[in-house]
Amino acid sequence: MSGPVPLRAEIGSFVEVVGLEVIYPLGSRHIQALTGIDLQVPQGQFLCVRGKSGSGKSTLLHALAGLRKPTAGRVRVGDIEVHELSARHAALYRRRVVGIVFQFFNLLPMLTVAQNVAFPLSLDGARGAALDEKVDELLADFAMLDRRDNYPDQLSGGEMQRIAIARALAIHPDLILADEPTGNLDSAAGNQIWLLLQELCRKRRVTTIMVTHDADATAYADRVVVLEDGEIVEDTDDRSWDSV
Ligand SMILES: Nc1ncnc2c1ncn2[C@@H]1O[C@H](COP(=O)(O)OP(=O)(O)OP(=O)(O)O)[C@@H](O)[C@H]1O
Ligand SMILES: [Mg+2]
Repeated sequence: MSGPVPLRAEIGSFVEVVGLEVIYPLGSRHIQALTGIDLQVPQGQFLCVRGKSGSGKSTLLHALAGLRKPTAGRVRVGDIEVHELSARHAALYRRRVVGIVFQFFNLLPMLTVAQNVAFPLSLDGARGAALDEKVDELLADFAMLDRRDNYPDQLSGGEMQRIAIARALAIHPDLILADEPTGNLDSAAGNQIWLLLQELCRKRRVTTIMVTHDADATAYADRVVVLEDGEIVEDTDDRSWDSV
């Protein structure tokens, strides 16, 4: 075969965002949260998104999660055109393809640790001994098996976040989206979470996109993208610009 190899195939991007624009209507005016974002993320990359408050980081994650329809542009994850999904299919996409981790852990307080981790699987009908075994395996991986029957309010913030990540992983996601996952943790617990996310990327090849304010997190990431006023102003991985 002769001729140049298409750039897209060369990059093999798992996540592809092209010309993404999000405008929020706000009363009589509009807020332009994202302007022409182009971003390609290869499978298994640990990407850290930084930027000041209001720069559009959460909006970007929401568009990737199918929680926010873009005003313009496209968002592809694997072979799923996320921007085209109906609300019902977007919910299925989040349940089966994406693991989402939030700043405030979002564990269900009335469920035990094990029940929280089992929850996304039980939504899809998993039950019984096979489910228990799977959950316990995950908890063991996260060194939390001895806390399986505790309730979230019996855990530290760092432990709650580990459980939230275990829960996100239960479905074997291809993509993890984390919005300020260490925002409520001290630096030791925060470092543990970053290390954990880095390991997941490396060992399980789960593509991870993490939003954070914290500059220390960048040491764990493969790549850092900085947003300013809804635009990418810095990207440590130049290749993402080549295919634009
Ligand atoms: N639902 C909404 N309606 C109107 N404007 C919104 C909405 N959500 C976000 N915005 C605006 O869009 C812009 C980007 O917000 P976004 O939440 O993405 O920022 P962020 O970078 O995540 O900030 P932070 O670091 O404070 O979480 C901001 O100006 C914000 O006020
Ligand atoms: Mg935010």
